[in-house]
Amino acid sequence: MIVVMFTAYEPERHGVPDDAITARRAQLRDADEIAHVMSARDGFHHTDHLTRATHLFDRLPVVVVAQAHAMIIGWSGAQIIAGRHPGPDGWYVAGLEVSPAWHRHGTALKLLAAVADGVARLDPGATLFSICNATNQASLDLHLRAGFRQLERGPQFVGVTFEGGRGVLLAHPPFPTW
Ligand SMILES: CC(C)(COP(=O)(O)OP(=O)(O)OC[C@H]1O[C@@H](n2cnc3c(N)ncnc32)[C@H](O)[C@@H]1OP(=O)(O)O)[C@@H](O)C(=O)NCCC(=O)NCCS
Repeated sequence: MIVVMFTAYEPERHGVPDDAITARRAQLRDADEIAHVMSARDGFHHTDHLTRATHLFDRLPVVVVAQAHAMIIGWSGAQIIAGRHPGPDGWYVAGLEVSPAWHRHGTALKLLAAVADGVARLDPGATLFSICNATNQASLDLHLRAGFRQLERGPQFVGVTFEGGRGVLLAHPPFPTW
């Protein structure tokens, strides 16, 4: 069984954006294909992920998918987290996975834009936060490309601890004024 945590960091390589890839709000009927994206990343059978994929729609006010040629190739979402310090209360990016076969075609950038748009529709003017493992450099570069700014590094944010010991708190505009 293959369990891959983070994508290899390859800053010397650049992707080729694919116009066939679009991001949209997800629907419950997408859960099965979202489970396939999850299993493409970690090697577990997709039925192992089906319950989690289905529950996303109960847990997350914003769920988005990316698709190419009618096939779902990535997903993300956003949730409100409050009262779990350290870390500000507010909207946080959830998930964010792209099927490995589709990496470096601009899919994650489209997913993050769709998440930000979904949050802005529900809560105009709200900041969108995200947390990343400090060793996940591919995701950190991605967030900066998507307009996020690094706010802080630390051992724990909103109840999440990090393999390797440190995480990064990021924010998407409108940035907090504190
Ligand atoms: C991180 C991840 C979501 C990126 O998805 P993606 O669709 O390949 O990303 P994009 O094609 O939109 O990349 C946009 C930019 O992000 C940066 N980036 C993305 N992947 C990168 C990598 N492996 N190495 C270096 N930079 C990377 C680059 O700046 C890239 O632009 P470029 O290709 O023009 O150089 C994907 O690798 C993945 O699913 N990883 C496993 C799950 C994960 O770590 N999620 C993040 C949780 S915080």
